[in-house]
Amino acid sequence: MTPMRRKIIAGNWKMNKTPSQAATLAREIVDACSKYKNTDIVVCPPYTALDRVSAALKGSSIALGAQDMHWEDQGAFTGKISWDMLEDVGAQYAIIGHSEQRTFFHESNETVNKKTKKALTTKLIPIVCVGETLEERKANKTNSVVESHVTGAFKDISVDQAKKCVIAYEPVWAIGTGVNASPEQAQEVHKFIRELLAKLYGADLAQSLRIQYGGSMKAENAEGLLKQPDIDGGLIGGASLKADSFAGIIAAAD
Ligand code: PGA
Repeated sequence: MTPMRRKIIAGNWKMNKTPSQAATLAREIVDACSKYKNTDIVVCPPYTALDRVSAALKGSSIALGAQDMHWEDQGAFTGKISWDMLEDVGAQYAIIGHSEQRTFFHESNETVNKKTKKALTTKLIPIVCVGETLEERKANKTNSVVESHVTGAFKDISVDQAKKCVIAYEPVWAIGTGVNASPEQAQEVHKFIRELLAKLYGADLAQSLRIQYGGSMKAENAEGLLKQPDIDGGLIGGASLKADSFAGIIAAAD
C-alpha cells in the first residue's frame, strides 16, 4: 500500500531579510503559493521578522515557523527564544538541530533532544534536522552519523510524541553549495531513516512520519527529488528567498 504522506515544503530564510523585507516576501509568497492546496507550506524567517510575517500570512494557508528555540521556558538565557514567545506570534513549527547550529553554535545531539522534547510539550511541530558532512560521507559514515542524529534527537521520546515531528535530511555538503544530493543518493538515506524509525517506533509511525530533503533544492531539481518514494518534502534555504523560485518547488510538490 502506498502511504499517503502530505508533502511539506518549508523555507528556511536563515539570517536574511529585515522585518520589512520579510513582510514583503511573505506577501509575495502568499500571492504566488496560495493556489497550491495539496502541500503544507511553511516559512521560517528570522526571529525579528516573525511578528510582521505572521501578520502578512494571516488568512492564508501558509504556516509560520522559527529557525530554533530554547528548551527552557524562561529566564536568564541571553539571546534565546522560548516556545511560548514563538506560539504567541503565531509560529506553528520550529526547526531544530540545523547543521549551521551544529557547526557554528555548539548544537549537539543532547541539545537537539532537549529542544525537541520541549517542543513536543507545546503546540509547535519540530522539524528535526539530521545529516552528514562531506568527510563523513567519504569515510562511509553517512548511515552511522544519521543514525546517531536520529537516535540522539528522539532519545526518551514516546511513539505518540514522535509522530508529531518532521525530520529533515540535510547532507551538509549539499547545503548552500549548489550541489544537491542526487535523487538516488537522497532516497537511499531517506529509506535508511524510515527503516530506523520502524525499528525505534514500529512500522505505523515509520510510514506516517514525513522526511524532508534539504540541500540546494530548487525548482529545477525538485521534481526528481520529490518523486522518490521516501522524500516527503523539502527544507529550502537559498531558493526560498524569492517567491517565484519557492513557488516553483511547491508546484513540483503539489
Ligand atoms: P540551501 O539550504 O537550500 O540553501 O542549500 C538548505 C538548508 O540549510 O535548510
